[in-house]
Amino acid sequence: MLKKLSYLLAAGMAAATLSGAVFAADEMSTEAIAERIAPVGQVYTAKDLEGIATAAAAPAAASSGPRDGETVFKGACFACHDTGAAGAPKRGDKAAWEPRIAQGFETLRKHAIEGFTGKAGMMPARGTCAACSDEEIENAIHYMIDKL
Ligand code: HEC
Repeated sequence: MLKKLSYLLAAGMAAATLSGAVFAADEMSTEAIAERIAPVGQVYTAKDLEGIATAAAAPAAASSGPRDGETVFKGACFACHDTGAAGAPKRGDKAAWEPRIAQGFETLRKHAIEGFTGKAGMMPARGTCAACSDEEIENAIHYMIDKL
């Protein structure tokens, strides 16, 4: 009798372990994994912006040399500097750029690369284009201010 009981107990435990294993296997299903590694929420972060902003410039990024100002601008700066969004000085807007240019190109370059907060708003570092080189940022600045 006692022997039979312990046999039943053992069988019960084995079954429990087995169902545990089945559960674990289910956890590893493609859907379960996909759900777990899916991005958290749909929050719009600077990183998301970077993806969108650099998408247009991406094909050129594959080539070796630095991208020209127009390409970088259209990929990374356009969102703010074409519309004046967030207080950004618009490309070709002489009145908006003249006092800035008066600071000297080195200051513009530094502010664009490191980012800065001025009276008009916040300029994110590299316009959020982490993949843009210093030279590419310079090219984009020239594209914005050379034809005033
Ligand atoms: C998210 C919006 C945004 C993006 C994207 C952005 N900028 Fe700006 N930028 C601003 C704002 C706002 C200012 C004005 C800040 C102020 O003066 O208060 C500014 C100012 C500047 C200035 C003037 C700095 C100064 O000293 O007056 C330069 C140069 C500049 N941006 C370059 C760039 C370049 C190059 C890119 C793309 C690689 C870029 N920005 C992308 C918002 C942006």
